[in-house]
Amino acid sequence: MKKKVLLMGASGSGKTSMRSLIFSNNPASLTARLGATIDVEQNHVRFLGDLILNLWDCGGQDAFMDSYLSTQQSTIFQHVGVLIYVFEVESRNREKDLEYYRNCLDALRRYSPDASIFLLVHKMDLARPPREQVLERKAEELRQVSGDVPVTVYGTTIHDESLYKAWSGIVHTLIPNASVLSRHLAILAHACSATEVILFERTTFLVIATSNPPAAPSFSAPPLITSTPSSSFTSNGFTSTSTSTSTRTTSTATVTSQHAVNVPEPRENDPHQLAPTRYERTSELIKAFKYSCSRVREEFHALEMELGEFTAVLDELTRNTYVLIVVHDPTIETAALRMNIRLARQKFE
Ligand code: GTP
Repeated sequence: MKKKVLLMGASGSGKTSMRSLIFSNNPASLTARLGATIDVEQNHVRFLGDLILNLWDCGGQDAFMDSYLSTQQSTIFQHVGVLIYVFEVESRNREKDLEYYRNCLDALRRYSPDASIFLLVHKMDLARPPREQVLERKAEELRQVSGDVPVTVYGTTIHDESLYKAWSGIVHTLIPNASVLSRHLAILAHACSATEVILFERTTFLVIATSNPPAAPSFSAPPLITSTPSSSFTSNGFTSTSTSTSTRTTSTATVTSQHAVNVPEPRENDPHQLAPTRYERTSELIKAFKYSCSRVREEFHALEMELGEFTAVLDELTRNTYVLIVVHDPTIETAALRMNIRLARQKFE
């Protein structure tokens, strides 16, 4: 099953940068070197089993946009599953951006009326505070321009985890059996006495599904993992060791300490609350760690974290996925969690 995803927006709005972070594991610092996209660049990413994401990164220069909306209209806009339209939060060409967006919406209505539409208000790091208000104003403007077409708006920047939140949300809508997956993850969570089990796509580390425990168990939950943008685990109090085997290299990180950075603390009267940004933060951190591994020519395979309050094991589940198991019971050994992952593999393949 192939899902066509159109990535559109003005030139310089940041489309290729986000693609390079999410799909090619590059750090934000390298995006400044990216050249303008000429015409359309296509990528294929295999998600779970049969689901293939066919991403069309459409160069945003006026000449290309005009051509997508005229001679190439049917090629570009037919069979679209998702349109992701990127707007710079502080654009100097606001009117022109909106005009192109309106024209793209019309073309999409004609050729792919069922496509889902996601609008990214991007480069939020450049917005003048208070950023929530800036985003809300921009989102309102975009909803008005979209008229009766339903749209989902996210505020994003390549400099924090917001990009992963948006893309995980988008990808989640493309996965047909997400609720079945969640049920299986809940069974795995139960078997491991885990607080939560999270399934990630292998290349992008976007969240595919979670076990979503209905009633949180009784524990005092610190933020799952904390980070500063594009930092490596080592600089954050994580230590990493790498060991080579004859068949593959395993990079293992052990968390020895942590410092909360911009993570909402659990409320005093509610010790069960987990940090709401934990999924996208984990995606961002693992990607940063994978990048660190690649710089020392090691391949990332698995991760274990042991803190006083919780243990987490991240390991391959299937060819296209990783699973993260988080446990708050100190009597449960990581080896047991790894064994359960091994045993669960067949079910998920
Ligand atoms: P075209 O290929 O011409 O359509 O442009 P594009 O939309 O692909 O833009 P691109 O990804 O090449 O990004 C343009 C510039 O924006 C690069 O220098 C990026 O480093 C920068 N950029 C991308 N995302 C962000 C962001 O979130 N914040 C900031 N401050 N800069 C960003």
